[in-house]
Amino acid sequence: MPFDLKSYLAHYKKRVDALLKEVIEMEPEPAKKVCEAMQYSLMAGGKRLRPILMISSAKALEKDESIVMPAACAIECIHTYSLIHDDLPAMDDDDLRRGKPTCHKAFNEAIAILAGDGLLTLAFEVLSSDWSKSPWDINYIDPMCKIEAINLIARAAGIKGMVGGQCADIETEGKTIEEKTLYYIHSHKTAAMIQVSLEAAALLCNANRRDREALAKFGFNLGLAFQIRDDLLDIEGDEKQIGKPIGSDIKKQKATYPALFGIEGAKKRANELIKDALSYIEHLGDEATPLRAIAQYIIYRDK
Ligand code: IPE
Ligand code: IPE
Ligand code: MG
Ligand code: MG
Ligand code: MG
Repeated sequence: MPFDLKSYLAHYKKRVDALLKEVIEMEPEPAKKVCEAMQYSLMAGGKRLRPILMISSAKALEKDESIVMPAACAIECIHTYSLIHDDLPAMDDDDLRRGKPTCHKAFNEAIAILAGDGLLTLAFEVLSSDWSKSPWDINYIDPMCKIEAINLIARAAGIKGMVGGQCADIETEGKTIEEKTLYYIHSHKTAAMIQVSLEAAALLCNANRRDREALAKFGFNLGLAFQIRDDLLDIEGDEKQIGKPIGSDIKKQKATYPALFGIEGAKKRANELIKDALSYIEHLGDEATPLRAIAQYIIYRDK
């Protein structure tokens, strides 16, 4: 039977959503508001691409996906925090996210900043918690692998990764930049978190060095292509589909791939990146079918 990506994505999105719901505990008044804002953005309907990439990596390595679930949820918390802060008036100043008012619109700016802080910190609480307990129920994990995975995730989220890339993105607004600066922005703000989703999964699954490196390279290329597609959707996407405003990048004079190389140039580059990405995991068996299908989907997705 041919692989049905649509139902695969829907199935695992549900599974991740159910776990994420358990991760946020409500605090009583007067701190309840920040928990509500965290929950609002986390449960607003993201694609859960990064967690599903982790699950698919576990599958590709013939491991039970439950082993990556705590890290998958943690990465989704970090990702959601990055979106809340990315939308703030001081950054991209957007009003729509995941088809709903952005966190600062639904609540207020102070609460949105705190909700981001709360989600980032919650991610590391989940990562450093005891995974043998509910809802994770993981029998055994090598403690050194766990610590290394936490370290990789921290680096990818921080100044050497997403935060560094977001700074470059803001600093280059309205400027004419060179290709190498655009590469810095894309590789840091987006590809770092996508790469670490695959690499941390490989680590938690006790992958050998070859598979770990292959998945890391695959993830990095996927991340670059993902941001190119995101930039294209900002121009030619449908607001209802993508659940965020069209034209946000042009309004803010952002450095994007289509701005530098045109729409056709951007599409061509995204295709090349995916072709390259797939070559890194050629040696993996049929178990890597979901990973391969996601790679193709990334450059044609309409949301
Ligand atoms: C949007 O990420 C931000 C980028 C890194 C381009 P997603 O497109 O994965 O957003 P959600 O999680 O599905 O809302
Ligand atoms: C932001 O890129 C990527 C993040 C690290 C949040 P964009 O600013 O293009 O993301 P969207 O289009 O608002 O989702
Ligand atoms: Mg941005
Ligand atoms: Mg933005
Ligand atoms: Mg964008």
